[in-house]
Amino acid sequence: MSTERKADRGSNATNQSKHAERRSIRAALTVATNSPASNDWSKSALGLGLARPPWTPCAEDGDLLLDALRPHLTDSGAVSLVALLGVTPALTQLGWPDGARVLAVDASPAIIRSQWRAHPTVPSAVTCARWQALPLPDKSVAAVAGDGSLNTLAYTAYQDLFREVARVLAPESVFILRCFVRPDTRGDVEDITRDVAKQAFPNSAPFRLRLCMTLCEADGTLVLGTLLERFNGLFPDRAKLASLADWPIDEVDRFDMDRDSKIQLTFPTLSELAAHAEPLFAIREVRHGSYDLAELCPTITFVPSQSRQRLAR
Ligand SMILES: C[S@@+](CC[C@H](N)C(=O)[O-])C[C@H]1O[C@@H](n2cnc3c(N)ncnc32)[C@H](O)[C@@H]1O
Repeated sequence: MSTERKADRGSNATNQSKHAERRSIRAALTVATNSPASNDWSKSALGLGLARPPWTPCAEDGDLLLDALRPHLTDSGAVSLVALLGVTPALTQLGWPDGARVLAVDASPAIIRSQWRAHPTVPSAVTCARWQALPLPDKSVAAVAGDGSLNTLAYTAYQDLFREVARVLAPESVFILRCFVRPDTRGDVEDITRDVAKQAFPNSAPFRLRLCMTLCEADGTLVLGTLLERFNGLFPDRAKLASLADWPIDEVDRFDMDRDSKIQLTFPTLSELAAHAEPLFAIREVRHGSYDLAELCPTITFVPSQSRQRLAR
């Protein structure tokens, strides 16, 4: 086959996958627009499987998680169970080391139905439960891991989650989470608009993360439905925004998936996060990838703090 024909076939395949993605965005928009105001993740872009990096982990994030995890799996002998907070496919399908067993925990039956797939090589299972009440015995897991899990909780629930994770972790085990961490100094919308004009955002996903961290309340709380209202006020001319950013209009219309959403996200700073983790956990390591905005989405290793170990003796 000539190089030209191969190139044609390649670009046809790319166009077809772009069309397929646009169709699924339109279908998701229809679900989101026709659904009543909801705090149901299965009505959100994330729940509908349309999340893209940096909202969902990329391969680099997966490697950071496995690096942090590996010593704890090999050192912990008989305990090899990893509990995952959520069913994020990029985590459930990771190249888990030999000997690992994975249990994913999510509170939404609809998300489990749409997102959960068993791992092809390591023993894996899913269970429907709240992370604040993990259906696991005390000291039974080698690691708990997740992606953006804390960010989906109200601050008032952070301690409940840390307490529950501390309960199920075996000695010498770890809690590894990629977290969306807002900068100590709040950015402003003008900076974001300037970056749009520089075409610094390949699509609207990283733009949306910057907006979230800029428009959230002073403590980092953000109700997704209000993001859409603020966005519409700031960027009333969607076609103009799309053209400035060099995106197809569907990229901008993705914001409609947050219509009426009551989902509340929290974006703590790193020091606020450390304060929430105390006294049960201390932050041992913070690492991030090399992609745009990776510094806002670090993989954080929490270890049971000295005080907890003393209490346990
Ligand atoms: C953690 S986020 C997933 C975002 C992730 N970054 C991704 O790549 O898709 C959303 C998931 O968390 C689940 N969830 C939120 N709060 C929960 C809770 N308290 N207990 C269990 N699952 C919860 C929702 O059902 C949803 O499936």
